Amino acid sequence: MNTILVGAQWGDEGKGKIIDVLTEEADIVVRSQGGNNAGHTVEIGKEKFVLHLIPSGILRAGKKCVIANGVVIDPVALVGEIEGLEKRGIKLANRLLISETAHLVLPYHRALDEQRELRKGRNKIGTTKRGIGPAYGDKAARTGLRMIDLVRPKTFSTKLKSRIEENNAILESLGGAPLSFREVEKAYLDAGRKLAPYITNTVVWLHGQLEKQKRILFEGAQGTFLDIDFGTYPFVTSSNTTAGGSCTGSGIPPHRMDRVVGVMKAYTTRVGEGPLPTECAEVSDMLHAMGREFGATTGRARRCGWFDAVATRYARVVNGIDELAITNLDGLDTLMEIRICIAYECRGKRIAFPPNDAEELLHCRPIYRKFAGWQRPTSDVRHFKKLPVAAQRYLKALAELTGARLRIVSVGAQREQTFTV
Ligand code: GDP
Ligand code: IMO
Ligand code: MG
Repeated sequence: MNTILVGAQWGDEGKGKIIDVLTEEADIVVRSQGGNNAGHTVEIGKEKFVLHLIPSGILRAGKKCVIANGVVIDPVALVGEIEGLEKRGIKLANRLLISETAHLVLPYHRALDEQRELRKGRNKIGTTKRGIGPAYGDKAARTGLRMIDLVRPKTFSTKLKSRIEENNAILESLGGAPLSFREVEKAYLDAGRKLAPYITNTVVWLHGQLEKQKRILFEGAQGTFLDIDFGTYPFVTSSNTTAGGSCTGSGIPPHRMDRVVGVMKAYTTRVGEGPLPTECAEVSDMLHAMGREFGATTGRARRCGWFDAVATRYARVVNGIDELAITNLDGLDTLMEIRICIAYECRGKRIAFPPNDAEELLHCRPIYRKFAGWQRPTSDVRHFKKLPVAAQRYLKALAELTGARLRIVSVGAQREQTFTV
């Protein structure tokens, strides 16, 4: 059984936590897109881990993890992440594989990310400033450097020199500071030496594992509405965050995928700029007052709102979601009344799918259906039938309106605070 797990909203749906749970039934966990813009939280007992590039499956002893070709890697950040995990007793030797064709995020990508955001002013995207957009831009423009270059110092230095010259000219014209070739070369070759034992042809390795009937779990990063093709462009990230990205980002063909799990919160959040039709100050204030919904990568407060079934319906269609994992149900425990957006009203018309134009989305007014709250804690519940009836009704409505089967419910950040339906 090979499973693709995707975020069905705007990212931060709780993918890390659900991956940690599903890894129990998998042999290999693969990241196939995004970079260290991702922040996936897993809480196990008193320990809290936030993974950025390394698949969350690494926290389960014996499981293998792959950073596949579709990911963009900041090698210095990756070394930091590996060392941070090792300090905490997580063993990575012979468990982590890194694709030799994954592209590198270089310091000029981060600098350009920052400069472009500055120049956009009020129209900025609100990126994580990790250089993701410029790195994927270079990949598409065929001017990128890859892991395979990093472990060939001579080739790397030659290519880097010419890339730094070009990017320094751009940076200076934008008012940014030029980079020192020597400094970047040293930092990256040092990181390359440390990463070398992990770098391999992951496509060939993964296919070998498939032949041995190993079960693969694909850990999506970001969410459907941050997808470069299907999201609220231009307020998106630069990769295909939807199910198809798992195939192109790993070299595993579509017919080998057995199911798609969509993760979504019982409400909606978004970090960064861009339209969010169900945004609601009351919901944001409530969740922030509980100490929740601050970004795992940048610490920024997430914008919050009611559950948007127009969005998740579209996510179901685009990803082919079979099963739903609904997280953070406990976040709604105190409310007397809860709303679900069931359709948008856009320029006098009722629509069931989001418009493609982000500008148009700003004109969409959510049409809500009201649900009674349960006003009881759910964090200790471990069976669907033990949930307050109003919570059962609410979850059933989320699944029905989205159009997929409810499979996993999460009522707290801990591994144990989860049950299957
Ligand atoms: P990801 O990027 O999709 O992995 O999600 P993040 O880790 O960025 O954000 C999800 C946040 O919600 C993290 O702080 C998780 O620990 C937390 N979380 C996940 N599921 C639950 C849940 O059911 N209840 C509560 N209270 N927290 C949860
Ligand atoms: P995980 O995997 C939430 C958002 C940024 C910004 C936009 C573009 O933890 O769910 P980028 O740095 O990618 O160019 O930023 O995308 N963003 C995320 N939001 N969760 C993430 O990852 C995100 N990764 C990027 O806030 O709006
Ligand atoms: Mg996150």
